Amino acid sequence: ALITLRQLLDHAAERGYGVPAFNINNMEQGLAIMKAAAACDAPVILQASRGARSYAGDIMLRHMVTALAEMNPTIPVVLHQDHGNNDATCLSAIRHGFTSVMMDGSLEEDMKTPASYDYNVDITARVTRAAHAVGASVEGELGVLGSLETGEAAAEDGSGAEGKLSHDQLLTDPDQAVDFVLRTKCDALAIACGTSHGAYKFSRKPDGDILSMETIRRINEKMPGVHLVMHGSSSVPQDLQDLINAHGGAMPQTYGVPVEEIERGIKLGVRKVNIDTDCRMAMTGQFRKIAQDKPDEFDPRKFLIPAMKELEALCRDRFERFGAAGQA
Ligand code: G3H
Ligand code: 13P
Ligand code: NA
Ligand code: ZN
Repeated sequence: ALITLRQLLDHAAERGYGVPAFNINNMEQGLAIMKAAAACDAPVILQASRGARSYAGDIMLRHMVTALAEMNPTIPVVLHQDHGNNDATCLSAIRHGFTSVMMDGSLEEDMKTPASYDYNVDITARVTRAAHAVGASVEGELGVLGSLETGEAAAEDGSGAEGKLSHDQLLTDPDQAVDFVLRTKCDALAIACGTSHGAYKFSRKPDGDILSMETIRRINEKMPGVHLVMHGSSSVPQDLQDLINAHGGAMPQTYGVPVEEIERGIKLGVRKVNIDTDCRMAMTGQFRKIAQDKPDEFDPRKFLIPAMKELEALCRDRFERFGAAGQA
């Protein structure tokens, strides 16, 4: 059944687990994610970006996710708007059956320019008032995602933003986080702790201090009740880079967020873990492999079935490691 983000994350907090939030654009991603959730009895967050909504269409997305929930009657599902950029995006999502929205006021409407604190509080509080009036949940974001390694802010699409930011700007301020949640009444809070979107997060092997666990720990200490969200949580697995590159791909070597780091974050209060890049790489790895291994193949299902299997295995691993398995 479709439930709200608040319902799911309250349960996750009570039991101390994290829920992966996988991005969805099409039926095959939905089928694979739900197969994994059903196989390990885990609740799931399916999130659609603005790009996903224009790719599939709101009506298609709603019917698709409703169908996925109906096919898996024991699995709680949240349908969440990822990175809403203004009131209209969030309210139209709710109108189309989303049970939760992210109002990302950390950036201006263009989703590139870091926004002022006052802008963020205003727009997030306004969207939360409207969403709560009709029973939907809201995720806010405070702090600018970006690499602590390069000091580059990350735009929503994973491209670098203008100029360099200091360490302080790339990490959410714990006192400001308390003020933000009190003033906006958002249900979940995305924080900046050193992750960024996309495949190219770190240029060398992470050494264990790649994320600011201290930021997570301090926010949770000040506000034990708040549900924290970690964006940019793909691990960019080496085996998927190798699979892609062994079959005609040309992805430069890169490093993501190790799953152990996410597990540490979950112990400190992270409840929602956003993953898109890893899912893309799982499917694309198999597309490339089939295309190269079977050049005479032209039935799309012969590409999509292995791609779904690869994605399902990835999702299962994350459900299990985040502690969501068995929690449906
Ligand atoms: O944070 C961005 C997500 O990975 C969604 O990406 O806007 O290309 O669908 P997208
Ligand atoms: P990745 O690019 O690390 O998968 O992050 C996805 C994300 O944060 C979506 O909001
Ligand atoms: Na989100
Ligand atoms: Zn994100």
